[in-house]
Amino acid sequence: MGEPRAMPDVEIWPADVGDLDELVEVYLSAAAHHVAIDPAVYEIPTAADAAIRWQRRVESRGPDVECIVSVVDGRVVGSASIEMIPSNGIGSMIHPLRIAEIGLGILDGYRGLGIGQRLIAELEGWAVDHGIERVVLVVADANEGALRLYRRLGYVADGVVLRKEVAPR
Ligand SMILES: CC(C)(COP(=O)(O)OP(=O)(O)OC[C@H]1O[C@@H](n2cnc3c(N)ncnc32)[C@H](O)[C@@H]1OP(=O)(O)O)[C@@H](O)C(=O)NCCC(=O)NCCS
Repeated sequence: MGEPRAMPDVEIWPADVGDLDELVEVYLSAAAHHVAIDPAVYEIPTAADAAIRWQRRVESRGPDVECIVSVVDGRVVGSASIEMIPSNGIGSMIHPLRIAEIGLGILDGYRGLGIGQRLIAELEGWAVDHGIERVVLVVADANEGALRLYRRLGYVADGVVLRKEVAPR
């Protein structure tokens, strides 16, 4: 067994369009992880399509959306975003809480160093500052490592999304 790796010096910054290439690299690395654990659901997008996605996300930063990066030795090695979820609308039986959804990914080779936890803490702080009462995130059942981290940070299961493949008649 190797030596435990120390937490590197990590800076956290708002994401910028200048980070686009590295944001795509982080996203494709996270996509590869997901394809490995559940190829029935996930795929690896092209870098060009991922760049469009991330440019839109970065440009949507504002009162309802934040997107941040973690930087080690000048390199973007992780990203995280949070986005306000629209309310359930009039007449809903669900408590009208202000809810936001979190997503994050760390570049392969930089995982398990405490960077994901730092990014989540940063986004939870943003949530509190923006009057958010609950944060949610979607994680695959098969993503056991990620689930362990989220549970340790106080996240609990909230219902179950069921799926079934249906064939054409
Ligand atoms: C899940 C993820 C965001 C966590 O960030 P991280 O920086 O690796 O996590 P931290 O170092 O802050 O916390 C360590 C915990 O993360 C979890 N973890 C998940 N993947 C891990 C990995 N490859 N290596 C080490 N820890 C991992 C473990 O629970 C670990 O805690 P443990 O050592 O007590 O088991 C990151 O590993 C990642 O991007 N994984 C691939 C993509 C992904 O699953 N994204 C999340 C989608 S919901």
